[in-house]
Amino acid sequence: MIEIKNEQLFHLYNEKISYIINVLPNQQLGHVYFGPSLGTLAPFDQAYLEKKENKSAGTVKFFEADNLFTLADRFQELPTYGTSDFREGAVSVFEEETPLYVDFKLVAFHCFEGKERKLAQPASFAAADESQSIVFELVDQERQLELAITYTIFKGSGTITRQQTLTNTGSKPRTIQRFLSGVLELKNRNFELLHLSGAWLKERHIKTVPLTQGTISVGSLKGASGHQHNPFVALKEQQATNDTGHVYGANLIYSGNFLAQAEMDEWDNVRLMLGIHPEHFSWQLSQGETFEAPECLFTFTAAGLNGLSQESAQFIEKHVIAPYWQKRQRPIVFNNWEATYFDFNEEKLLTLAQESKALGMECFVLDDGWFGKRNDDRSSLGDWVADPVKFPKGIGSFAEKIHAMQLQLGIWFEPEMVSPDSQLYQEHPEWVVKHPYERISVGRGQYVLDFANPAVVEAIFEAMQKVILETKLDYIKWDMNRNITEAYSPYLAEQGISQTEFYHRYILGLYRLYEKILAAFPTLLIEGCAGGGGRYDLGILFYSPQIWPSDDSDAVERLAIQSGTLLGYPLSSFSNHVSAAPNHQVGRATSLDFRQTVAMFGPLGYELDLFHLSEAEKQAIKSQIVFYKKQRQLLTFGTFYQLQQLDHGNEKTWAVYDPQNEEALIAFFRVLAQANPTAEDFLPVAFLDGQQVYQVNGEPVSGQLLRQLGLRKPYQFNAVNHGTAQVTGDFQSFVYQLQAKKGVE
Ligand code: DGJ
Repeated sequence: MIEIKNEQLFHLYNEKISYIINVLPNQQLGHVYFGPSLGTLAPFDQAYLEKKENKSAGTVKFFEADNLFTLADRFQELPTYGTSDFREGAVSVFEEETPLYVDFKLVAFHCFEGKERKLAQPASFAAADESQSIVFELVDQERQLELAITYTIFKGSGTITRQQTLTNTGSKPRTIQRFLSGVLELKNRNFELLHLSGAWLKERHIKTVPLTQGTISVGSLKGASGHQHNPFVALKEQQATNDTGHVYGANLIYSGNFLAQAEMDEWDNVRLMLGIHPEHFSWQLSQGETFEAPECLFTFTAAGLNGLSQESAQFIEKHVIAPYWQKRQRPIVFNNWEATYFDFNEEKLLTLAQESKALGMECFVLDDGWFGKRNDDRSSLGDWVADPVKFPKGIGSFAEKIHAMQLQLGIWFEPEMVSPDSQLYQEHPEWVVKHPYERISVGRGQYVLDFANPAVVEAIFEAMQKVILETKLDYIKWDMNRNITEAYSPYLAEQGISQTEFYHRYILGLYRLYEKILAAFPTLLIEGCAGGGGRYDLGILFYSPQIWPSDDSDAVERLAIQSGTLLGYPLSSFSNHVSAAPNHQVGRATSLDFRQTVAMFGPLGYELDLFHLSEAEKQAIKSQIVFYKKQRQLLTFGTFYQLQQLDHGNEKTWAVYDPQNEEALIAFFRVLAQANPTAEDFLPVAFLDGQQVYQVNGEPVSGQLLRQLGLRKPYQFNAVNHGTAQVTGDFQSFVYQLQAKKGVE
């Protein structure tokens, strides 16, 4: 998978992609190509690529020996601002106030196979026969800095990853001001920047901005990847469709402040960069110290948005999600939050649990309000001991009763937070993120714990461990409901470490807690949450195979959220709960059928008051759960396709396909009913096998017909077909079940 020519040309390739790096005349790493696989390069192609063009468009020449060469228009792997390249760079290092304008030259490289999974640090991993990596060692002799960049190519994947470290080999301290994790240089192909943006309750909506000369960026400065933007971005040809067109995806395996930006210069060169946001960040490197940037990944597909979605899903499911959870069935949960909020006692919960069990659910998740004296969101965070009023016999006794019903048990924690009204805060006021000024912002009535302080992480681990052991816990819901303000760690101040390191050290502390918990309880299912989708990123997915993607459980809103999320993340990575009608977030009333059909894509749950359901609704839930259990693997791990253009505001058609068993489930959704609808409308299903015959809800149809003409859209209500329509009114959904008819001529 890695070809090397004359120590000057490096070709990482598999059957899907090629990525080519060269050495520039100044010994820096240059970029040549990323795109469809070129296969093994013929010697004449290698020779062709090896030729170094010395003439450049830039006006400032780079070094005296060759006064034609500049970096102004060069594709580079790690550009730096301050020389003959006037675009924004990826790395910037200072000696006190003086910029160093680093100049890294290639001195050595080596390759290795496989990539170990280390719990201490979220990063991709692969077995020995699944990946090959190349490490480039670059040195800036004059400034006494060493840079190592590792690229990995994976078998059968359109994704390439990149990790890099910077080491101070000199005696003088150096300050890193910017060290972005990934750079991808491309010629513009009528690209637009696609990003997943929104807000709390409407996360990860698909947005696109056409590139133009200048810079477009998204990012987060909230101490978390955030509700508003997501580290997953893509460069997409504007003309790309669901199934055709070049798309380059990019993501970071990181949960903190990030920046993703695309800059286009006067020659139509595009520079896509991702990494830790340079704002409010710098890192001091003393002699011998190394800084490691979060891993970055780049994905290429020529198969449009479905190609992007499938490449991303396949990579994440195989190389980011913990091996234990890969393809492993996720329980159908009942979560008590929207059923009870804080108003519950043990008895009420046990009756709900019994009812959920009777309906077929498998895991009871006890949400917020079980600890301290927490009857609203103003107290007790940090006191991870069950409320003796709600649980007079303790949490262990409650857990036993749940387990005796043959249900798994999940418990909600918000480990990174503390309420001012808590025992923990009374004992350790110095453990909160707090600037020495008197002013401290409170969000949702709570403070953020100083996770840059190892003692804080240790104390929270001890408290959580007690509960996990006492309850023989199966599942944790890991919430995080406020962002960081007045970022200041009393611990770092005491240690003489700059506060500009706080945000990153906080995230390292968070990862340390995950590591400790999973090292002690490797099969615990942790669901990430963060106010629903406020930290939906690959750093969290490395530890938590699924994330509660939004606090908005309204099925209409979820159509947009899930459509966006699925461009960069797998179906298995988010959970969906069927909630009440009218919905608690937007007040919209949709049918149970519609809500269940939207929620069945991915790990399923229910979050509503089961005692307010009619018998008919209970029956509908029961039979949906029976259906879901049969189709669970397909709905969680099947290959996902969007069958309609993503900008169709009123309709979505989602498909999951299992190519081995040649079966598919396709759900059609229409948000608002249309007047005078046509009965003749079709949904072509391009991924089916044209040689096959499929049973479509029991009726035979040829694959060729389904590919070319398509599935007939559900027959909908109009003035004359009252009573015979398959879908009527607003919030329509319809499910097609397709199975190849084995042995049909
Ligand atoms: C925010 C979460 O996203 C909700 O699901 C719920 O757990 C609440 N927090 C509880 O406070």
